[in-house]
Amino acid sequence: VIAPESKSPIVFQVDGIFLEDLKTLPWRRPIEEWKDLGIRHVHVRRGVGRHPIVFVQVGRRVFVIKELGYEDSQKEITNFRELLNRGIHTLIPAGCVTREEEPNEVDTQIGKRFERNRVGHTVTLLLDRVVPDSQLYRRAFKFENRKRIWDAIIDLFVELHSHGIYWGDASLANALVKFLRVDVPYIGKKVELKAFLVDAETVEIHDSISDALRATDVEFFLESMEWLNADLMAEGILRDPLGTKEDVDYIKGQYEVKFEANVRLLEFEKRTGLNVQRLLGKLRVPVEVDLLQKHIEEHKWYLNERGERQFDIVEAAKRWHDEVFIPICELFREEEVPRYFPGKTASELYMEIMTHKYFLSEEHGEDVGMMKATRDYVERFGTAGPLASFWIAFSRKMLTIVRTAETGSAVMPK
Ligand SMILES: Nc1ncnc2c1ncn2[C@@H]1O[C@H](COP(=O)(O)OP(=O)(O)O)[C@@H](O)[C@H]1O
Ligand SMILES: [Mg+2]
Repeated sequence: VIAPESKSPIVFQVDGIFLEDLKTLPWRRPIEEWKDLGIRHVHVRRGVGRHPIVFVQVGRRVFVIKELGYEDSQKEITNFRELLNRGIHTLIPAGCVTREEEPNEVDTQIGKRFERNRVGHTVTLLLDRVVPDSQLYRRAFKFENRKRIWDAIIDLFVELHSHGIYWGDASLANALVKFLRVDVPYIGKKVELKAFLVDAETVEIHDSISDALRATDVEFFLESMEWLNADLMAEGILRDPLGTKEDVDYIKGQYEVKFEANVRLLEFEKRTGLNVQRLLGKLRVPVEVDLLQKHIEEHKWYLNERGERQFDIVEAAKRWHDEVFIPICELFREEEVPRYFPGKTASELYMEIMTHKYFLSEEHGEDVGMMKATRDYVERFGTAGPLASFWIAFSRKMLTIVRTAETGSAVMPK
């Protein structure tokens, strides 16, 4: 039985470019009736959720429309916009569409009153080609592969929390994961697994958030896997449960390490004026931030020794970037060093070799130098070792670049 159509207005608070398309939809009817009204639906595997939701094709676009309370939809759309402004991977909002229905009668102590009854809709664009979370619970899907998905979700947590954002509803259903081609400076494109925040009703955006709130988000996510286990068990789908001790330890451990590295990284960027993330991509471990800092301080020391004047850290960072970092990345590329490390970028190699140099020097009790560190690194971790003649030519070129930093580090006071 279909209720008579309400005559009250439909309010569109949507981006201009979507207005035409969205106006063609039958907003006076609940979205659950749209299929019977002939609206073209798209089949999408979706996570569990509380609200009615439809995936509809209008023209070239697929809109995802979620029906919920008026205030909640307003809040959710505002949140999506704010998240995007802060560079968080999330859904692209088209806007809110509201239908006003007959007011609700409510009994109060002073008699009957009428309350506005507005039905809200959160409209977003379809995020397509996501990795279905059912991948995660296939028997053949081993921990090594699961880790890649956990890494993407951990990165999302770190991004959110470093921006002072509390999610409040973190779960596997509310985080969609997909492969993205990203630009990496000095190397070109690279494919990365990225997690997107898809359910933003509960999101709260502050300047910073407490350790307790951060922990609550992560705990909630871990708990959500237990509910999922129970659901899957009931449906008879479950084989290896999710959220095993191995998963939990990995997620908690990696999250803390990456969050700490990111805090230090942000401080470092503020102090040096370097945009490290654009330069190097994400630094993965705190020691990388420390080493980068050490390299720049060495370069500053070297410049100050040599120069007629004192250089501050911002100037030194810029000089290090132009005189050491860029030439080395370029040398790596010209000499095709990344060829021995499929999937790694020149800047990642630079960071890893620097880290290797640090540990090797610790082991030897003295600074082993950039050349020795590079050669040892390639021999230990590369797919195939280059010929000796390659190394002779390569060493010569590299030495002309790092001579400055090397000279500096060899004599720099501790
Ligand atoms: N724009 C979108 N693109 C792709 N999938 C989506 C999109 N919006 C929602 N979904 C899917 O629908 C599910 C339910 O949406 P969600 O916003 O989480 O609703 P609820 O508030 O009811 O939990 C999500 O888990 C996700 O799988
Ligand atoms: Mg949800």
